[in-house]
Amino acid sequence: MELTLTRPDDWHLHVRDSDALTTVVAHTARQFARAIIMPNLQPPVTKTAQALAYRERILAAVPEGLQFTPLMTLYLTDQTTADDIVEAKNSNRVQAVKLYPAGATTNSAAGVTDISNTWAALESMQQQGMPLLVHAEVTDPDIDVFDREKVFIERHLQPLIQRFPQLKVVLEHVTTREGIEFVSSAPDTVAATITAHHLLLNRNAMFRGGLQPHSYCLPVLKRESHREALLAAATSGSRKFFLGTDSAPHARERKESSCGCAGIYTAHAALELYAQAFEDAGALQQLEDFASHFGADFYGLPRNTDKVMLVKKDWQVPDSYPLAGSTLVPLLAGETLHWQLQP
Ligand code: NCD
Ligand code: ZN
Repeated sequence: MELTLTRPDDWHLHVRDSDALTTVVAHTARQFARAIIMPNLQPPVTKTAQALAYRERILAAVPEGLQFTPLMTLYLTDQTTADDIVEAKNSNRVQAVKLYPAGATTNSAAGVTDISNTWAALESMQQQGMPLLVHAEVTDPDIDVFDREKVFIERHLQPLIQRFPQLKVVLEHVTTREGIEFVSSAPDTVAATITAHHLLLNRNAMFRGGLQPHSYCLPVLKRESHREALLAAATSGSRKFFLGTDSAPHARERKESSCGCAGIYTAHAALELYAQAFEDAGALQQLEDFASHFGADFYGLPRNTDKVMLVKKDWQVPDSYPLAGSTLVPLLAGETLHWQLQP
């Protein structure tokens, strides 16, 4: 069996920097035409000049013969000004701005401490038509880690979309039924990305036969009923839900540690993983809209015109890939995948 699709884009991706780019940009560029590049480097990408320099480093890591366009983002802080937004917009290279609540996830220490500190920047984004990408989790330690998305939506996202009704907002890596319901019932300015791992796995994956650090990410995997809600949304044909892998490479020793960091790597087989999830749901015919159309439409960018082909053919995922002098353990390492992207 074969499946031909318009070449997809990844609307949420971490590629890191320096030597790590060699491995991870190659994986993504083989599959995707474009990707929204997350700005959570150390130090974070808070200014347009940094985003443009980072873009050049990413382009330098694209393998010969592949076409890949990184779409850059800025990291929103309490200090981001309206002028920062105008400069980003005028560059034509910065496509969006990412809101990390300070302390919510990997490299978020410089994030926003109180959303009211960002009103001027958000006002400018609304004016400029610059989308806001949101890591939608509260950091309040009193809130159960599995409820952090739901509480963020109630406390922060619902009021935010009322205050900025024209602002385009993406609830990144939505993980809960409540998140799906919020996005579905919100105006057309509000959309969400969905990862392959949240479509394929529930929280049992973190504890299968012992603690599984390579299944730990943020927002953390949720219970099965939430996974079912994500799958229903992704395969529904709603234009509000589109592909964003949140592929987040970390060296093996940072994951297999007494304090393992958050992030699941899926760029080695992103489309194959989504195809598996959609096939399991009996919805392969919905994959192209989700992977290749709805994201570009939301961002107001042209759809890609070239095609990719997936073939139903078993292959074994490697146990690891090299990563900047270390190794990287991908999702489903050593296991068999049933779809294969043709070169
Ligand atoms: C991401 C990372 O490692 O940068 N980690 C993750 O678990 N998803 C950060 C993020 O997107 O939250
Ligand atoms: Zn991410």
